[in-house]
Amino acid sequence: MTILVTGGTGYIGSHTVVQLLEAGHHVLVLDNLCNSKAQVIDRISQITGNPPQFIEGDVRNRKLLKQLFADHAIETVIHFAGLKAVGESVQKPLMYYENNVSGSVVLLEEMAAAQVKSIVFSSSATVYGEPQFLPYTESHPLKPINVYGHSKLMVEQVLQDLALSDPAWRVALLRYFNPVGAHHSGLIGEDPAGIPNNLMPFVAQVAVGKRAQLSVYGNDYDTKDGTGVRDYIHVDDLASGHLAALEYLKKNAGVLKVNLGTGQGTSVFELIHAFEKAANQKIPYEVVARREGDLSEYYADAKYSKMVLGWQAQYDIDRMCVDTWRWQSQNPNGFND
Ligand code: NAD
Ligand code: WQD
Repeated sequence: MTILVTGGTGYIGSHTVVQLLEAGHHVLVLDNLCNSKAQVIDRISQITGNPPQFIEGDVRNRKLLKQLFADHAIETVIHFAGLKAVGESVQKPLMYYENNVSGSVVLLEEMAAAQVKSIVFSSSATVYGEPQFLPYTESHPLKPINVYGHSKLMVEQVLQDLALSDPAWRVALLRYFNPVGAHHSGLIGEDPAGIPNNLMPFVAQVAVGKRAQLSVYGNDYDTKDGTGVRDYIHVDDLASGHLAALEYLKKNAGVLKVNLGTGQGTSVFELIHAFEKAANQKIPYEVVARREGDLSEYYADAKYSKMVLGWQAQYDIDRMCVDTWRWQSQNPNGFND
């Protein structure tokens, strides 16, 4: 199939592009490089031996999208492009709604105009908000607690209304939990700009000597060891979940909403210990105050993804840390190396 991957030089997109190419698909990557680097394309080529076609551009560029759909027999779109920093979303709501929501609407309008009515959308467990029960099932109430989560839920709503208006649409809403890890080659991985917001890349930067120590945001939560518990999922498991979703959409119209998680909760201390084993060194840390807006614990009910997609995560937290460390130690400055 010819697949357009928006945001394809990003963290999850790049890992998914590798697997799409390895599966024999023809891949077009559209990315405006606001949070990634073009070097990723070279690394993907090194891994797969055949490069995707890369177009530097913005999903909000209607003229560019019209040209892309006119020039290529695109059969489906995997839509990763978007902004994802929760804290920033609260400070700059219009930037997030314009990029994540308006950008998705423009993409969908041009898809419809080109009669391309198949899309896999990067949603997030953030749409669930404060857990009413755990594990989160796909029927958990949807009450996001930040602008970023609202923007994801809005696009889910747009897609559901679009599919209601036209039964030809095939839509997969994939609700990712906490993606971590890197391709086993160590050639691609998570390369956050500036100071990492997320736990795993921060721990990796401490291990490689870029950061002095980790701040553990609270150890007084009502969890197994007092620190925050999350459902970390290997980015390559997440990528294979997208290929399973593509297969599903080949056979099913309508809207699929599915969690992509492991079903396992891992605490901050457990992740630190796993990383210390992987990197064979201590990770210095200091327990500080809780981070504003953090939930104490959440993890996925992973039964539905196995039932409906025949997919389940394969890799455990140790493998996630080993692969992260290989990437970080081989690329101390990320793709700038
Ligand atoms: P990322 O920032 O690495 O990748 C997103 C890519 O989209 C970047 O390469 C960026 O340059 C590009 N982009 C952003 N706005 C664009 C636009 N208007 N036009 C073209 N390109 C644009 O992030 P990621 O971690 O790979 O996440 C991919 C998607 O998955 C995002 O939509 C994110 O919200 C979602 N998601 C991420 C996580 C996570 O923790 N990483 C969890 C759940 C959902
Ligand atoms: C994990 C745990 C922190 C950093 C975020 C977004 C979510 C999704 C995934 C897009 C928590 C603790 C963290 C640090 C720490 N992204 N922590 N020290 O917040 O669960 O989810 O990324 O969809 O929308 O909210 O991930 O990695 O930031 O935090 O102690 O320096 O690690 O308190 O318990 P989070 P995270």
